[in-house]
Amino acid sequence: MRKVEFIDLPNLDKARKRQRIPQTIEFHFNPTKEAVEYFKGKKYFIRTYGCQANIRDEETMCGILNEFGMLKTDNEKECDLAILNTCAVRENAEDKVFGQIGEFKNIKEKNKNVILMICGCMIEQKHIIDKILDLFPFVDIMFGTHNIKDIVLLLSNFIKTHTRYIDVSSYEGDIVEDLPVSRLETYKAFVNITYGCDKFCTYCIVPYTRGKERSRSEEEILKECKELESKGYKEITLLGQNVDAYGKDLKNGSTFAGLLDKVASLNIPRIRFLTSYPSDFKDDVIDVMKKHKNIMKFIHLPVQSGSNMILRAMARRYTKEEYLDLIDRIKTKIPEMEFSTDIIVGFPNETYEEFLDTIDLVKKVHYTSAFTFIYSPRVGTPAAKLIDNVTYDEKVKRFKELVKALEVDFTNIANSMIGKTYEVLVEEVSKKNKDLLSGYTENNKVVHFKGDKSLIGNLIKVKITESHVYSLFGEIVNE
Ligand code: SAH
Ligand code: SF4
Ligand code: F3S
Repeated sequence: MRKVEFIDLPNLDKARKRQRIPQTIEFHFNPTKEAVEYFKGKKYFIRTYGCQANIRDEETMCGILNEFGMLKTDNEKECDLAILNTCAVRENAEDKVFGQIGEFKNIKEKNKNVILMICGCMIEQKHIIDKILDLFPFVDIMFGTHNIKDIVLLLSNFIKTHTRYIDVSSYEGDIVEDLPVSRLETYKAFVNITYGCDKFCTYCIVPYTRGKERSRSEEEILKECKELESKGYKEITLLGQNVDAYGKDLKNGSTFAGLLDKVASLNIPRIRFLTSYPSDFKDDVIDVMKKHKNIMKFIHLPVQSGSNMILRAMARRYTKEEYLDLIDRIKTKIPEMEFSTDIIVGFPNETYEEFLDTIDLVKKVHYTSAFTFIYSPRVGTPAAKLIDNVTYDEKVKRFKELVKALEVDFTNIANSMIGKTYEVLVEEVSKKNKDLLSGYTENNKVVHFKGDKSLIGNLIKVKITESHVYSLFGEIVNE
């Protein structure tokens, strides 16, 4: 057995606590001389799973490693350091990571000097650490979401001792400012406005893996946004597990609406935000959205279920009626607003009638797009303790029925776009067809069209010529 040093271990009881007041701390980069010499010019590979919070964390890690003199590679076979940045939200997310760790066995057999680090939300769970220690002796370092700032220290220690390190601080978390960043894109960017979550929906692991809900200061957020503006970024997405809670903890009068108003006043063509929590979504946000043309008229508003019984069991703090009322209020002020959502089917003991309430809600809202999930029990969450009387086959049946209902609206909305011209942010060469480019409309529909690669990162006008359930085809309109 290799020696393991437990610097800090995840602990669910500590992760659940909400007593300590998070501090804002500054990042200091102080690697040892040996470490700088060792890592300079070496290559790192990083694979990220999960949500935008994790993508933004990848950018921070890349920023730190680049400062270290390391170079990023997309080829895991040629790297000196590999990082798997994991997600714990559902079991299938975790299974993918275990598959990937297994593949690294071969890579490490060929080159034993490769350092393998695993971080992210999975590592915040004790049973996962135990499993990795047991099954994958070639994993070198595991660190938690609060420990990203210490990555250089961990690497410096590792090259001296070759000890396996585990460093996962389960606590409310702090706000670390002045972290280096190396962005994955040059035209669209994520900006964290809050970290963590205090909602504790009964099925969800995020409040345990990401700590207490805490807001960055307006000043720091605007500084980051202005820097992106000066670099010519076309789209900014403000990030938080619940953006509507922004400012509550600052106790200085800052609100999400106030922040959004300031960010939208900058010269950035597209502003988006993720994620909104229905009962925290306040009418002043609607007014700010109406005021600024550059705030996209598209809201991701997870409903999770259309049944009041299930919403209560999930500890979601609104009813189906309140959710529909919010949608109505928004549409009254901004008729062109479109919505996407997240829905979980097969929450423990969900009856078929309760499921039909979700179908009914979906038919009333007319979502433009949606993410649908089959409930996945997460160790340590209240819902995971429930005895469930719904079979997996039944859940799959309901899942398919839900997708079918949603696709009616997806198709209708996509069809209604044919013949019209939309602004599209060009993102990449189309994955399915190398001769086409693809980009996103204001309502987040992906459009494929012919065009020169040099258009990537630009906003252009595209006329829609053909629609499918999940994508559109079009042609560039030259004005
Ligand atoms: N803070 C965001 C995102 C949370 S995770 C929000 O509140 O919407 C993204 C989505 O994953 C959730 O909206 C939910 O639909 C889904 N999800 C979370 N935990 C899950 C679980 N245990 N099983 C299935 N889906 C889950
Ligand atoms: Fe999870 Fe609920 Fe928080 Fe979203 S609001 S991250 S679903 S606990
Ligand atoms: Fe996954 Fe963690 Fe995000 S669990 S969804 S990566 S906050």
